[in-house]
Parts: sequence; C-alpha cells; structure tokens
Amino acid sequence: MANVTPETPKLQTPRLLLRRWHKQDREPFHRMNADPHVMEFFPACLTPQESDGLIDRIEAHMERHGFGFYAAELRETGEFIGFVGMAWTPFEAHFTPCVEIGWRLGSAYWNRGLATEGARECLRHGFEALELAEVVAMTVGANVRSRRVMEKLGMTCRPADTFEHPHVPAGHVLRQHVLYRIVNERVVREKE
Ligand SMILES: CC(C)(COP(=O)(O)OP(=O)(O)OC[C@H]1O[C@@H](n2cnc3c(N)ncnc32)[C@H](O)[C@@H]1OP(=O)(O)O)[C@@H](O)C(=O)NCCC(=O)NCCS
Repeated sequence: MANVTPETPKLQTPRLLLRRWHKQDREPFHRMNADPHVMEFFPACLTPQESDGLIDRIEAHMERHGFGFYAAELRETGEFIGFVGMAWTPFEAHFTPCVEIGWRLGSAYWNRGLATEGARECLRHGFEALELAEVVAMTVGANVRSRRVMEKLGMTCRPADTFEHPHVPAGHVLRQHVLYRIVNERVVREKE
C-alpha cells in the first residue's frame, strides 16, 4: 500500500469530526459497549476493561498505520457518539489481507445517516489518500442496519464470500458472516 503516513489525519464531514481517541471518550464508550441493543450482533457486551482494551488496540493501529477506527464526535455539540473507520482485518480468511470499514454508534444517534456520512468520508480517504485497492465490510446476516449502511456506500455482497468468523466460537449463532466489498476503480485502472 502506498502513501501511508504515520500521522493519522482528522477527517471531517458536515456533521462529524473523526479523530484520535481522548481520555473522556472512555466513559461513554463503556456505556455503549455495555448496552445489549448496541451489542446485539456481538457474542457479548464488553466490560469497562474490555472496552478500554479495544480503544488501546485501535490507537495502536493508528500509531502503526496512520489510519484506524476513528472516535466520532458531533461537530455541533462536541459529543462523542461512537466510532467509524477502517482497519487491517486482524485474522486470516479467504479475503485477507484486506482493510475493513466498520462502525458502532450509541443507539441515541442511530438512523440519522451519521454512520453512512462518516464511512463515506473514510472510504474517500482510503481510496484517495491511502490508495487502497479494495475495502471490505463484514457483519452477521441479521444485522440489517449495518448491511444497509454497506449498501448505501455502494458495497456489494456475494453469497460465495460468506464465511465463518474465526473470533466467534464454532457453532455460535453469530459465527457466520456476510462480506461486502467495494473496489477502488482508479487504482484498478492504473494497474491494468
Ligand atoms: C450499524 C449502525 C452503525 C448504523 O448507524 P446509523 O447512523 O444509524 O446508520 P445510518 O442512519 O447511516 O443508516 C441506517 C440504515 O438502516 C436502516 N434501518 C434501521 N433500522 C432498521 C431495521 N430494523 N430494518 C431495516 N432497516 C433498518 C435505516 O432506515 C437506515 O437506512 P435508510 O437510510 O435507507 O433509511 C448502528 O445501528 C450501530 O451502531 N449498531 C450497533 C453496532 C453494530 O452493529 N455495528 C456494526 C457491526 S458490523
């Protein structure tokens, strides 16, 4: 991958600031990750310690790669609302190595187009500045909200890409995941 900068730049949309994580984000992130509604499609809610560990891993990824899952803040009020961003997929599968795009917002902020707005800006950055050739997204089939975001971004899903998520225990109802992809047409054209 070309043009990766060790500095993670802030990204902005009309309503969102996507930025590095602050100490003050930890407490609202604890509450989000303890909410069964937010965590419906994950094997379990997170303890505060697990939630902090996730922030630490996200920040380490940003330090190393110059991009990651950004803390998302409402520009109008400065409220932390969750995360939107991209990361290298941390396991091996038929579609890796690859960069995935992902999102998790507090439920008070759902259905206002915020995840899509933030993700669109991340994709633009990923394609234009990071020159990624392809970005994927994954979720369980029943997560229609997240799948809708993927569709609104122009990502497509092939049944042949459905896979067993290695971080979910075998036999678990949430183990099977669908995969969405979007290709960077410019990079593909230049390679031809
Ligand atoms: C997935 C998530 C980030 C979406 O955030 P959001 O800001 O509400 O997303 P958007 O508003 O951009 O889009 C949501 C879409 O889902 C649709 N939607 C919401 N509830 C729905 C339902 N029950 N059935 C079908 N569609 C639904 C909305 O109508 C909207 O689509 P539209 O714009 O065509 O009307 C948010 O629901 C969330 O944080 N969920 C919990 C964490 C999670 O599952 N993360 C993804 C893991 S892969």
